[in-house]
Amino acid sequence: MKIIGTGRANPAKIVTNAMLEEFLDTSDEWIRERTGMTERHVISSEKLEDLATEAALKAIENAGVTPADIDYIICSNVVNEYITPGLSCIIQGAIGAKCACVDVNAACSGFIYALDMADDRIKSGKAKTILVVAAEEPTRMVDWKDRSICVLFGDGAGAAVVTEGDALIGSRLTTVSKTECLHYVRTLEPTPYITKEEEAKPMYMNGREVFKTAVLSSSRDIRTLLDEAGLQPADIKYYILHQANMRIIEAICGQLKLDMSHFPTNVAHYGNTSSASVAILLDELNRDGKLQKGDKLVLSAFGAGFTTGACIIEWTK
Ligand code: UT7
Repeated sequence: MKIIGTGRANPAKIVTNAMLEEFLDTSDEWIRERTGMTERHVISSEKLEDLATEAALKAIENAGVTPADIDYIICSNVVNEYITPGLSCIIQGAIGAKCACVDVNAACSGFIYALDMADDRIKSGKAKTILVVAAEEPTRMVDWKDRSICVLFGDGAGAAVVTEGDALIGSRLTTVSKTECLHYVRTLEPTPYITKEEEAKPMYMNGREVFKTAVLSSSRDIRTLLDEAGLQPADIKYYILHQANMRIIEAICGQLKLDMSHFPTNVAHYGNTSSASVAILLDELNRDGKLQKGDKLVLSAFGAGFTTGACIIEWTK
């Protein structure tokens, strides 16, 4: 496959660190030093499906195709207001496409899992032009009274249109079941027969554990992919990493012995938008004219599961 268009959409409400200081025992200094974040976009009146649709339409326009050309939609999503149908089905209706749709939940790695699935489907000859959307509202999963977690997240959607091509140089997906580290559990509707105990709780994250695992696993994925492709770290123009924490990005940069010019970031302005983060950053780079034909890019993300996804792509647009 190759990427031929990208798009993004974010909620209008911007919540600064100073605004969080108003109701949490936190400080702008702590948040900036520990995470690199200064503000984040947070859903207020918007519906996630509308942001997802906006990102999708922008990607379709950027690709120079029409909704009628899309013959498969994959949406990466952890939560939204609908349990069913999948967000991909709602996007299909909103953009006026007519094709099969599926949602994938691989937490923050979901956009890369979805790109990998798109590549498989194109290779199998079952689809030619695929819309991949990552839409997330993690601010709806956290306890807004818990300073250790609610300051970290933002909401948004990113999208890419992919079609036949040879731009995916390599990809690597891993999953290690480690649910105790990071999870969010909800209760379902009661029935007359339920006897087991169930409890809805906001998202739980062992930040330090996730931090360590993220740095080690992302560096390992990247090194493995570079070795397999016969590339050196400096051959990659940009490492587009999951924007979870500036210190994680700097640590991965250090592991690869590169300078930060290879690591574009936007975590300062968006916070952690789960699987949307890599898609949003890719779109920013594309629209800012930072990507040249022939550039090699690494995409790498990690998240609940514990899942990781990484790929090397050549920019062909
Ligand atoms: O996409 C999902 C992937 N998630 C991630 O990648 C998150 C990975 N982890 C992290 O980014 C970091 O572990 C955090 C940013 C979550 C936390 O940073 P940390 O350096 O690991 O801090 P900590 O959890 O060890 O907490 C240090 C101190 C504690 O106080 P004491 O016990 O030392 O007195 C916390 O209570 O900082 C305190 N603290 C805060 N203080 C002010 C925690 N949150 C806050 C806060 N404001 N918002």
